[in-house]
Amino acid sequence: MPLAKFVQDLETQLRELDNAGTAKGAESIVVKVLPAREGRGPRFVLEGEGDREFIRMNSNSYLGLTLRPELARAEETAAHAYGVGPGAVRFISGTYQPHVRLEAALAQFHARPAAMAAGSAYTAVAGVLFSLSTPETALISDELNHNCIVNGMKLARAKLRKIYPHLNLQALQNQLEECVGQCDSAIVITDGVFSMRGDHAPVDRIQEIVARFDGRFARGVVLVVDDSHGVGAFGATGRGTEEITGGRADVLVGTLGKAIGVNGGYICSDGSVIRYLREKNPFYIYSNPIAPGEAAAALAALEIIRNGARLLSHLREMTRRFRDGIKTLGYETIDGQHPVVPLLVRDTDRTRALVRFLRESGVLATGLNYPVVPKGEQLIRFQVSADHTASDIDEVLAVLSRFRSR
Ligand SMILES: Cc1ncc(COP(=O)(O)O)c(C=O)c1O
Repeated sequence: MPLAKFVQDLETQLRELDNAGTAKGAESIVVKVLPAREGRGPRFVLEGEGDREFIRMNSNSYLGLTLRPELARAEETAAHAYGVGPGAVRFISGTYQPHVRLEAALAQFHARPAAMAAGSAYTAVAGVLFSLSTPETALISDELNHNCIVNGMKLARAKLRKIYPHLNLQALQNQLEECVGQCDSAIVITDGVFSMRGDHAPVDRIQEIVARFDGRFARGVVLVVDDSHGVGAFGATGRGTEEITGGRADVLVGTLGKAIGVNGGYICSDGSVIRYLREKNPFYIYSNPIAPGEAAAALAALEIIRNGARLLSHLREMTRRFRDGIKTLGYETIDGQHPVVPLLVRDTDRTRALVRFLRESGVLATGLNYPVVPKGEQLIRFQVSADHTASDIDEVLAVLSRFRSR
């Protein structure tokens, strides 16, 4: 059995994960979604948990759009019209009208000349880094950037890779300075919103730094922002971290799978950058696009967001209620407006105990322990959604209050 030794090694590694308590373990399986009813948002029923109904405080669907009938109808209509899958990659015969309409709508939404859909934000980022870098490029990244940036940087054929301490713009400038004369171009890449903590990059100030260094590299400096958690959920009109900071990325990556409520990713930029990526990005060229139905559903979501001032203000209101509530209970959090609300526990065992207590009390939230977050920064990530009601938020706060007074 040629596989035997290999499997043995994998099993040893899995045991190590289990022993260290860092395995993700069995996944919760949603078997039923109960729609929102008077005064309360949707509830989730999980396999093995009987009829118990859970409030989901760990979903990226910040606007609650995954459950909206407008999106389901758009997806179904497109699936009937074009089929449930694309049947080919884009340049062969897999480009459908909903893809093209979605790309035009995304470009317009972000006020960019062009946009392209991607299979996911993960592959969008990897494709951008892989395709826009050369063996003479420096890649410079915030230390808390998402895993897609970490791995995208490994894939890219860059000359130098540098990581600056979280949000430390002086370090970013120093690193750019170190690359001058060594590389002919640099790509500075940052998350817009950092998914673990809900804090955000000062895109305006990073843009200024990038502009200052641009002339010192023969092929210039490019700012790439992955605002997967920001778009749709952040800013008065949902334009994300750019709207909050007033800054602008040269290349903006977003996901269709969080606030937009569907699945897939996208890239917005200058027309020539997008055309180049369509020609050169292997993740785009050689992999199926999202289904036409998904593109149609995402278009319907954008329409809702364009008229979504009330939805966004409700999300902000629920987020404020929750953040203020946990502070009043004496818990530690990080200030901000984003619906990712971290509750800093700073201890692995206590984080696990609180996640267990929440679950036993009907609340789903995610504990983040070392090595996902640095030691001492163990936290529970709560994600507020526009389909939470004030009574849902108060219910979760009551559970947190009970844990504190145990
Ligand atoms: C910053 C960031 N980029 C990309 C992704 C991945 O998005 P997608 O599911 O569209 O690949 C995530 C999701 O967790 C993220 O937080």
